[in-house]
Order: sequence, then structure tokens, then C-alpha cells
Amino acid sequence: MDFRKKVEKYRKFYEPVDHNGNHEDESKWTYMKCDHSKQHFVVHNVKGYLFQKVVNFIMNLRTTSHAFYLTRHGQSEYNDLGRIGGDSGLTVHGLRYAQKLAEFVDKNIVKGKDGNDVPARLWTSTMRRTRETAQFIKQTTIRIPSETDPSLEYEWVQMRPRAWHHLDELFAGSCDGMTYEEIEEKFPEEWERRNVDKLAYRYPRGESYLDVIARLEPIIIEMERHQEPLLIIGHQAVLRIIYAFYTGHSRSEAPHLSIPLNTVIQVAPGPVECKVTVSNLRPVLCEMSLGHCFLMSSVYRERSCIPLSKVSVPMVKMNPANYRFVSLPMILLHIKSVPLGLAQLLSFACWCSLFTDR
Ligand code: G3H
Repeated sequence: MDFRKKVEKYRKFYEPVDHNGNHEDESKWTYMKCDHSKQHFVVHNVKGYLFQKVVNFIMNLRTTSHAFYLTRHGQSEYNDLGRIGGDSGLTVHGLRYAQKLAEFVDKNIVKGKDGNDVPARLWTSTMRRTRETAQFIKQTTIRIPSETDPSLEYEWVQMRPRAWHHLDELFAGSCDGMTYEEIEEKFPEEWERRNVDKLAYRYPRGESYLDVIARLEPIIIEMERHQEPLLIIGHQAVLRIIYAFYTGHSRSEAPHLSIPLNTVIQVAPGPVECKVTVSNLRPVLCEMSLGHCFLMSSVYRERSCIPLSKVSVPMVKMNPANYRFVSLPMILLHIKSVPLGLAQLLSFACWCSLFTDR
């Protein structure tokens, strides 16, 4: 059913939660009312770390949709040697990919269908291989209208690189710089433990996927907050988590997703599904991994990771109103009836699943 019609139906049966003290019970509830179009929020009886995290996440959700482009760095010297981690530079193939990526950005990210400039962002990790992959992407200055006063313009530097530590590759600690064969031979017990539980396994003096999930949370909040198309040049482990967030994969699936080299994955979250488009920019002579075939076959994936049937709708007083209610496990979430309400709800559900394990 069309979302707007659904909202009209809800209006006959529900009314807003009261925050004026007229209904004693409701004044004890924990709830949040959001009108993202006016940046107006009512936060009631919210205490504690987790609730406040939820409020922060919801307040930063955007109401316009935009695309993200995810890519790993070009082939690095360590990739070529089969070594993990390190901070090596790009090989000749890696540099060729960096050039192809810059052409892709020119054609697909910084220009709209009408050929006009579209303000766009570029994020990398702080590691040499991602910064070198970004080196051919042009930074031109364009003028764009101000959001608050369209009669004013300001300057915007296209694809100005921003390097985030949060986007650095999962740190393999004592195993950094080794091949998988060397790890298996020198640390057989560690190898076995990682095979049993890749999500929770932490390398000696290094990180686990759960650590990476924790450090990526600010990145997801910033991705949700911004309006412009964004290219992230990152690493396999971090991109697995970001991809899992937008496509609704669970925590346990995330460490096993394949994010191949030489590929740009466009992720376009929408109200019902997240559209994923994969572009292969493979430079000649590089091998194509099996993982690539896997991604090519999953062009569209469903976004919802908490089935909506699990979301209960509490009966409140009968009165037409401009709001609908959903009761989530921890908080009463109150979303104003706009078409993107559902997209925001899905974002929230994915966030709960990945970042709060609820
Ligand atoms: O260099 C390390 C990889 O990008 C992470 O892969 O977690 O499957 O070992 P892995």
C-alpha cells in the first residue's frame, strides 16, 4: 500500500502522545517526537547511555536520500605479496585503478544527469594506500546556493579529501604484515580461534570486528547526516561493516561479506529497499576474485533487518492526528508522517541491530 495512504489510515486510530501533562500515564513514558523537516524534536524522559545514543542517532537522520560509493584502495604492495595490514603504497595496478576511479568520479559522482555540478564528498582512511588511491580525483571549486537563503551562494570544494582514523583497516596487532599461511603456522591456536568466531576474535594486541563496529559508529552517524553523494575509499573490513549496515546484513554475516578490489559499490538507501549497483573498474592484468561474482549477483538486496512484523503498534486514544507510533524494544519512537518516515525507521532498525545488538 502507498505509504501516504497508510498514514491516512493510521490517523483515524491514533493520536500523538501527550507531553502537556494531561495524561498522567504518558508523562511517565520514554519517547521522542521528531519532525526532521523543521529540525524540531521533543525528547521526553530519556535517561542513560543507550537511550541517549538512540536519540543522537535519530536526530542525525536525514530526510533526503543520497547515494554512497564504497571502494577499497587500489592494489597495494602488501596485497600483491599476500600480506595483511601494514601501510604500503600502491603497485602499478593500484595506481592504474586510482586513475580509473578518478574518471569514474568525474562521470558519475560530481555531475548530475543534466551535466551540472553536484556537490560531493570524499573520505579516506589515514593509510597510505587509500590516500594514494584518491590522488587523481580532481578538487574543483564550485558555487552552490545556501540552504537557509537560496539567494546567497557559497564556495564548495568538490571531493576535498577528509582522512578518518575510524576508517583505517582492522589492526591485526602481532600478526600485522604476515600472510595468512604464516599466521596459521606461527599462531595455530589464534588461527583456530579466529575460524571459530571471526566477529568477536581479537588479534593479539590488535582489533576484532566488534572493535571496528564500535569505532565506525560516528562514521555511520555522519553518513546519515550529510546530504551530498559521498565516496569512501577504505579497506575490506571497514567496508564490510558499512555495507552490512546499509544492506541489512547481521553482525555475524558482516565479517564474511566480500568487498573485492577494483570495484565501486554504489549504495542507495530508499524507503523500502537499498539499491546496490556494482561497477567493475578492474585494470587489465588484475585477477577477478570469486567475491566479485558474488557481489555482481546481488544487485538488489532488501534493507530491513528487523522484520517489521516484530514492531508492535500500541493503541493510544482515538483521535485523528498527524503522527503514527511504533513501539521498539527500548523506546517509543514517534515519527512524523512523511514519506521518508519508513526509510528512517529502517535506518534505525539497522542501527539497533549492528551498533546496539538489540
Ligand atoms: O587485510 C585484512 C583484510 O582486509 C581483512 O580480511 O578479516 O577476512 O582476514 P579478513
